[in-house]
Amino acid sequence: MPKRMITTQFTEEDVGVETGLRPKLLDDYIGQKKVKDNLSVYIKAALARHGTLDHVLLFGPPGLGKTTLAGIIAAEMGAGFRTTSGPAIEKQGDMAAILNELREGEVLFIDEIHRLSRQVEELLYSAMEDYYIDIIIGSGASAKTIRLDLPHFTLVGATTRAGMLSAPLRDRFGIVSRLDFYTVDELITIIKRSSSLLRVDIDDEGALELARRSRGTPRLANRFLKRIRDFAQVRFDGRITAKVAKEALDLMEVDPIGLDNTDRSVIETMIRQFGGGPVGIDAIATTIGEDPGTIEEVYEPYLLQTGLIARTPRGRIVTAEGYKHFGLKPPVK
Ligand code: ADE
Repeated sequence: MPKRMITTQFTEEDVGVETGLRPKLLDDYIGQKKVKDNLSVYIKAALARHGTLDHVLLFGPPGLGKTTLAGIIAAEMGAGFRTTSGPAIEKQGDMAAILNELREGEVLFIDEIHRLSRQVEELLYSAMEDYYIDIIIGSGASAKTIRLDLPHFTLVGATTRAGMLSAPLRDRFGIVSRLDFYTVDELITIIKRSSSLLRVDIDDEGALELARRSRGTPRLANRFLKRIRDFAQVRFDGRITAKVAKEALDLMEVDPIGLDNTDRSVIETMIRQFGGGPVGIDAIATTIGEDPGTIEEVYEPYLLQTGLIARTPRGRIVTAEGYKHFGLKPPVK
């Protein structure tokens, strides 16, 4: 039987496998200035000490560059980069095998770290703090504990939900950084960089239109850029202008401020079925047939950021701005 793949070892070349557009060094990484400035200091200090970087926890909505930053941390430290994810590690033995394969100084990236089982997570406590794990061999009266020393390594954990991490795990990260949505200007810079790498011709207005509709998220900006490029090539002369970007994104049902069908369903449901709120996430999710966790992690952060909805102690409400976006007048309360 083929061995189950639990980790992937990335070469420096591969760090951009997903899109080929990921920056490989901190200097090429646009936005997230505070996170970048801090990491740069910690990396320089660790390098000067010839030590390893402390464990890093990155959290924030999906698509903002957590995996990219993890790859950059490894590259800047001149260290090997191994990646895995919470759901991929089912048993303590899987985690032990991954840790046992690490070499001195390597970066181990665990995506969706909040989805590790409690048992697997517990193995990480001593690994992170004192670089050893205790493995139990056998069972019952003949069970024996073997201590396995590990090389010094840096764990980079990523999560969309820092609140779902247990306190003992969260406390073992020496560096905790939150990634925020990108500004339109930052997205324009990213889009222009990506266009140049993809050899796509895009004008300033085209980049602006795309940036506005990318919901503050580079992963979406890059994904849309590739689809608009196809559209520009087949229906126009290949150049991305505001008109081309607008037409292509309208066809993809992405609205002028980046809302997609699910975003719109969330707000429309809140207005039509729940009188604009307050309403709980579970009720919204059940009504539109989505998973509450997905609504909370993927959709809600951007809707909150745009100010179309707000959180109150009694639940979520649609703001006056939210009503306006749908051409409606907010109810007089
Ligand atoms: N591509 C995706 N995210 C990026 C970022 N933050 N900086 C530069 N290019 C990117």
